[in-house]
Amino acid sequence: MLAGKKIILGVSGSIAAYKAVFLLRLLTKAGADVKVLMTPSAKEFVAPLTFSALSHNPVLIDFSTPDGSWNNHVDLANWADFIILAPASANSLGKFALGLCDNLLLATFFSASCPVYIAPAMDREMYTSASIKDNIALLAKQKRIIIPSEEGELASGLHGEGRMAEPENIVTFITGHLAKSLPLYGKKALVTAGPTYEAIDPVRFIGNYSSGKMGFAIAEELANKGAEVTLIHGPVSITNTNSSIKKISITSADEMYQSCVKHFPEMDITVMSAAVADYKPAKAAKEKIKKSGENLQLDLIQNPDIVAALGKVKKAKQLLIGFALETHDELKNASAKLKKKNLDAIVLNSMRTKGAGPGGDTNKITIIDRQNKNTTFELKAKTEVASDIVTYILKCLKK
Ligand code: CTP
Repeated sequence: MLAGKKIILGVSGSIAAYKAVFLLRLLTKAGADVKVLMTPSAKEFVAPLTFSALSHNPVLIDFSTPDGSWNNHVDLANWADFIILAPASANSLGKFALGLCDNLLLATFFSASCPVYIAPAMDREMYTSASIKDNIALLAKQKRIIIPSEEGELASGLHGEGRMAEPENIVTFITGHLAKSLPLYGKKALVTAGPTYEAIDPVRFIGNYSSGKMGFAIAEELANKGAEVTLIHGPVSITNTNSSIKKISITSADEMYQSCVKHFPEMDITVMSAAVADYKPAKAAKEKIKKSGENLQLDLIQNPDIVAALGKVKKAKQLLIGFALETHDELKNASAKLKKKNLDAIVLNSMRTKGAGPGGDTNKITIIDRQNKNTTFELKAKTEVASDIVTYILKCLKK
């Protein structure tokens, strides 16, 4: 959620400025690019050098720098995806609320059209005083986002409301708030990925070349758009970066079937990109099969068709998307699968296209819908293909 985000951390003059150091650490560890702006009085509490060493960016305090150049508050505000004011002292809070602008941090705040999170920090009587309460209410009315102060021991020795929210809680608050603005927030998604392995004996299996890259990329993209994602995958050697994805590792088609049937009823979106083995040995040998000098015949029986089983119980509000891997009569075969399995759409990969299909990093797809309308995309990285598929899903959900 915070990876790659450009954040301005505004630190004002409060003893809680020391907690802003930990907050900065959490933000940079999560992959954010953070620029710290301090009010002149904040320097009394924490040295700017601490923030600049941890943010790997210069700390900005004044409108101009010693070499005579200008710290442009408008550029700074435009650069940021969002601003966090933590700690917001009583003095800065009042100026934010009332439009007073006598330092760089305030000027940047007033130039910002991005979301601004404000974490007040002050002593109990100050925090509960009528004018501070009015200023906080005013800021909330101005659509600034207040991160409530917490109750506990205060720097003065008093106990009560006013201490700045703990850095971990600030991060949780912000990520939760950002998630709500994502287009798939509140949606549950199921994705299948990778191959299945069908046991022949304890050391051998029937498998396929699927790497899971396509399904993992789709899961990642859905999660990045705010969906709560469950990823059921066969044996793969890749992983996801979005830690919110719930991963369920299975080996065989039967295990994938059980897991999908269990989770499907609660899903809004299901994308079945796994390369499920259609057949399995009728009986897996308990012991390793020894060479006999003769040919070996394996008796194969059909695996359950997972997506077809889901298609049978699918409710009208559930979106079910399958994949079709074809070598010939691609559109005709894929469209027949869509109807037979009761899918809302099918993503066709042709094995005849160089660079498409299982194993590689690229894919070329055609999405076919129930009205037989098809959209063909260029050959591109599987991460970009995942983005096209999720864009298509967003369009379907809007209909
Ligand atoms: N699929 C499935 N269960 C199976 C086989 C396939 O859920 N036992 C799903 C795949 O995940 C994919 C879709 O069905 O979403 C189509 O898979 P594909 O291998 O292209 O087609 P099959 O239905 O297996 O048909 P065939 O192999 O005969 O082309």
